[in-house]
Amino acid sequence: MTTDHIDAMMAIMESAFDPRWGEAWNRKQLSDSLLMPHNQYRLIGADGGEPADDTPAAGFSLIKTIPGEEELLLIAVLPEHRGKGLGKALLQQFAQEARERGAEKIFLEMRANNPADVLYRSMGFEPIGKRTQYYKAADGSRIDAITMALSL
Ligand SMILES: CC(C)(COP(=O)(O)OP(=O)(O)OC[C@H]1O[C@@H](n2cnc3c(N)ncnc32)[C@H](O)[C@@H]1OP(=O)(O)O)[C@@H](O)C(=O)NCCC(=O)NCCS
Repeated sequence: MTTDHIDAMMAIMESAFDPRWGEAWNRKQLSDSLLMPHNQYRLIGADGGEPADDTPAAGFSLIKTIPGEEELLLIAVLPEHRGKGLGKALLQQFAQEARERGAEKIFLEMRANNPADVLYRSMGFEPIGKRTQYYKAADGSRIDAITMALSL
């Protein structure tokens, strides 16, 4: 983990997440999370490959790799690079690496009204649970969290 990579992820986080939903993490949350040995991140460049040191990243994923609990904690792509398959590539990379670690399932949690639902379902994720009124939006309203799982 380098400070540069935390900077890159924070830059993406700040423009990718709509502040209405309060989903973006702050720098302390992100760097604390990266101190956990079972958490890993992946950066992706605008061309779908690993970004070179002098090239800004277009997206990232943050993954929890605990056996039996492999989970996507965050995924984000800069708005100007969306719709080009980068989000799907990050998810496919997670699925592939989890499979190589011996995982049989991977999980994620999303707010019920997140349009990324289309992407997750297109990859075969299915809803397996709901936490009622789990998220608190900026306007004070409550939104359910949906847990989704993909069998590998
Ligand atoms: C979710 C996100 C990472 C998707 O990134 P992306 O690079 O645009 O995704 P892709 O280009 O790989 O999309 C793959 C498919 O899902 C669909 N899709 C992806 N995001 C979508 C959205 N927001 N609304 C509708 N469809 C979407 C695309 O149409 C595409 O379908 P296709 O391959 O049949 O054309 C991006 O929208 C984002 O950063 N959102 C804000 C952060 C967020 O909400 N993250 C998830 C919660 S942690």
